[in-house]
Amino acid sequence: MAKLISKKTAIIFAVLFISFLVTVESHQFSRKLSQRSLGLRKEKLSHFRFYFHDIVSGPNATAIRIVEATRTNRTATTGFGDITMIDNPLTIGPERTSRLVGRAQGMYTSASLNEMGLLMVMNYVFVEGKYNGSTLSIMGRNPVMSPVREMPIVGGSGLFRFSRGYAQASTHSFNMSNGDAVVEFNVYVLHY
Ligand SMILES: *[C@@H]1O[C@H](CO)[C@@H](O)[C@H](O)[C@H]1NC(C)=O
Ligand SMILES: *[C@@H]1O[C@H](CO)[C@@H](O)[C@H](O)[C@H]1NC(C)=O
Ligand SMILES: *[C@@H]1O[C@H](CO)[C@@H](O)[C@H](O)[C@H]1NC(C)=O
Ligand SMILES: *[C@@H]1O[C@H](CO)[C@@H](O)[C@H](O)[C@H]1NC(C)=O
Repeated sequence: MAKLISKKTAIIFAVLFISFLVTVESHQFSRKLSQRSLGLRKEKLSHFRFYFHDIVSGPNATAIRIVEATRTNRTATTGFGDITMIDNPLTIGPERTSRLVGRAQGMYTSASLNEMGLLMVMNYVFVEGKYNGSTLSIMGRNPVMSPVREMPIVGGSGLFRFSRGYAQASTHSFNMSNGDAVVEFNVYVLHY
């Protein structure tokens, strides 16, 4: 009888001890992983080219000014403080009707008092092929009057986890009468 109790007690202690270990495990703050355990093998470099349609005019505008600073003197300054929210189409060719490969969602704001210099904060959300659903995050300076503007790619999601790189923007066309622009983007990304 006594033997049986001690066996039971031992089992109870063992169960308690294991659940204690499990509890400790589930509260663990950090641990080391191998890169392979996340499927990260060889880092590769990819180049993407697409066209960004900044449509500011008409009923189907995709770039909408949401903030205009009261101190902004629109005739004299660079629009410092203006914020525009975008959900711009990204297409494979420069025509608006060409195949959609993704959208640029985010915002740009005039961040320079004395020249045209935008701060771009946006995600490219791709819909093309295996990249459907993957995103790249861009945060950088866009001096729109320069022929080529370079912006850092600070990360990504999906197929672009752990990515980094840069995007080069050059204006393909600008409609002086309504403000719509088409911008060619060449994007160089290191990713797994
Ligand atoms: C705006 O979008 C609507 C709905 O997709 C479409 O019917 C209309 O033709 C578009 N208008 C312009 C000016 O593109
Ligand atoms: C805005 O700038 C214009 C051109 O420099 C100037 O004539 C005007 O007085 C300024 N307006 C204000 C409210 O500062
Ligand atoms: C992209 O993924 C969405 C959601 O999973 C799906 O509805 C859509 O059809 C896909 N598009 C393409 C072009 O594969
Ligand atoms: C530029 O905008 C004007 C006014 O909306 C439009 O009539 C014209 O077709 C546009 N030009 C081009 C090349 O798209």
